[in-house]
Amino acid sequence: MNDWMFSEAERAAVYRAIHTRRDIRSTFLPQPIPDAILWRLLGAAAAAPSVGFMQPTEIIVIRDTEVRRQIHAHFESVNRAAAEVYTDADRRAYDALKLAAIIETPLNLCFTCDTTTQRGRGLGRQTMPETAVFSTVCAVQNVWLAARAENIGVGWVSILEPETVKTRLDIPAHLTLVAYLCVGYVSDFPAQPELETKGWEHARDLTEMVYFDRYGVRQP
Ligand SMILES: Cc1cc2nc3c(=O)[nH]c(=O)nc-3n(C[C@H](O)[C@H](O)[C@H](O)COP(=O)(O)O)c2cc1C
Repeated sequence: MNDWMFSEAERAAVYRAIHTRRDIRSTFLPQPIPDAILWRLLGAAAAAPSVGFMQPTEIIVIRDTEVRRQIHAHFESVNRAAAEVYTDADRRAYDALKLAAIIETPLNLCFTCDTTTQRGRGLGRQTMPETAVFSTVCAVQNVWLAARAENIGVGWVSILEPETVKTRLDIPAHLTLVAYLCVGYVSDFPAQPELETKGWEHARDLTEMVYFDRYGVRQP
């Protein structure tokens, strides 16, 4: 076996991380994440692929209680407005969901993307400029999977207004806010997505998501 090859056990571990990763909101514990582990997670972000190797991602590590309180207050007001879109049973279902754990987690991570950087010299971005932001999303996913392997939960909060978060965190205007994550140890990793358990949405069938050679063509 070459040293670049994964053993069967390593392969199984990677797929286990992928399939048991969850968006966590409810099972967080307050204990802090040691710095050495935090830096492993951040290293996973830095190791992500990026278009033209532009590495446009910067991350704000947020531990300060007051900063988290401010972001949480902002989330609460945006979430109240978001709930207004739903009526009747949908509204009751929405209100019963827990959609962020900004205060309960000891660590929040805010991911920004610098779409203006000259790094990578524009390679791969001429026809698809959005690939800069895609690159930051790859960094987020790396952290999410690495966190799973560290037995650490992550919850992505997008019920936020990017400009408000940028102001609160002193993020320069030219940066794009991509992701806000709540991160912490957990008492449990649920087997199913919480939105599925609570009846909000169900998982798609894999075969329903895949075509062959042309859109719409199912497996022969
Ligand atoms: C871009 C993005 C934004 C998300 N925003 C939120 C959010 O604001 N609040 C929340 O509770 N979950 C959020 N999630 C988590 C999804 O609800 C979750 O990934 C989905 O229900 C599937 O569950 P799983 O991640 O446990 O497999 C977000 C996920 C992604 C990828």
